[in-house]
Amino acid sequence: MRLLDVDATMVTVELTDGPARFHALWLRDNAQDGASRHGNDQRLFDVTDLAEVVTVVAAEVVDGRLVVEFGPDGVASSWDAVWLETHCYDLSGGHRVSGQSANPWTADGLGGGSGPHRLAWVDSDDPAAWADTTRALQRDGVAIVDGLDTGHDGAAIGDVAALWGPIRETNYGRVFHVRAEVNPTNLAFTPRALNVHTDNPYRRPVPGYQLLHCLVASDVGGVTVLVDGFRAAEVLRDEDPAAFGLLSTRSVPFRWSGDGFDLRNRGPLIEVADGGAVHGTIQAVRYNNRSAAPFDLSFDEMAEYYEAFRTFARLLHRPELEYRFTLAPGECMVFDNERVLHGRHGEADPERYLQGCYLDRDWIHGRIVDV
Ligand SMILES: [Fe+2]
Repeated sequence: MRLLDVDATMVTVELTDGPARFHALWLRDNAQDGASRHGNDQRLFDVTDLAEVVTVVAAEVVDGRLVVEFGPDGVASSWDAVWLETHCYDLSGGHRVSGQSANPWTADGLGGGSGPHRLAWVDSDDPAAWADTTRALQRDGVAIVDGLDTGHDGAAIGDVAALWGPIRETNYGRVFHVRAEVNPTNLAFTPRALNVHTDNPYRRPVPGYQLLHCLVASDVGGVTVLVDGFRAAEVLRDEDPAAFGLLSTRSVPFRWSGDGFDLRNRGPLIEVADGGAVHGTIQAVRYNNRSAAPFDLSFDEMAEYYEAFRTFARLLHRPELEYRFTLAPGECMVFDNERVLHGRHGEADPERYLQGCYLDRDWIHGRIVDV
């Protein structure tokens, strides 16, 4: 790290990726000295405690650390190059949000070509096996736990969920049942083929993870289709940036009603984190043709939005993005419901029976896995 320029309002340093500017106020707000930060890394002051005009009084690089003295409060702080690179906000192009570990896949590339990572239930109490599976979920957004009991009491799926955290109960119950019903409240509860989708975009928050445990397989049909929505969104951004721009910046409504509930939420089909539509990291995809409510964009944007929507929908059906397999009894698929779209190809046997549940995303993505 090398100091390039200093004035009262900012500091410019040379980082690995090039020059980076940092505002005086931003640096002061992120001061690391003992009066500014507790040992637990939580900030000890509020932004209103800082002077109206914060200035840089002096700055230098000493032993690989940027040292800055601020005015008017006289506080001094230092940061190493790794910290500054991790939090740098002055890099164009390709800067990734720190902690982002997703590795978007095509059908051939999932799990390095060998399909979803698998965890045998008998190995589930082995910390290394658990860590491998958690890492696979953070990276690929899907894994399979196999060798499970196929009793219908819901115990097995609860045990799988408990590897990471408590089940997030909804109005569908703690565990929901995917099988043919006489009066289904949801098309999932019929033998019909299901277009690829993410579940429950009408909830707030949207369920972060989903588990589907196969108890009875289908003799015909009922093939599972998985599509990495992050990969599909990246393809859209490459091929049709204008469509990507619309789908990532315009919110649309989702709705489900029944059984005494009227659930509504809204959001963009493609949610982008820091960096905006051009460079930003994709952090969520919502797509569900069954529960998309009537779009409510302005009249002037509606035709163009539909064109973008249709382009993305067609892209989701490209064979190279579709990972197809048949879930066998005793296998439980665990997947990121804000990333990996799932569907059912072909009319399933009415006897087919899966149990499902949801988990909050943080139980998996918030885990530090360094075992
Ligand atoms: Fe679903």
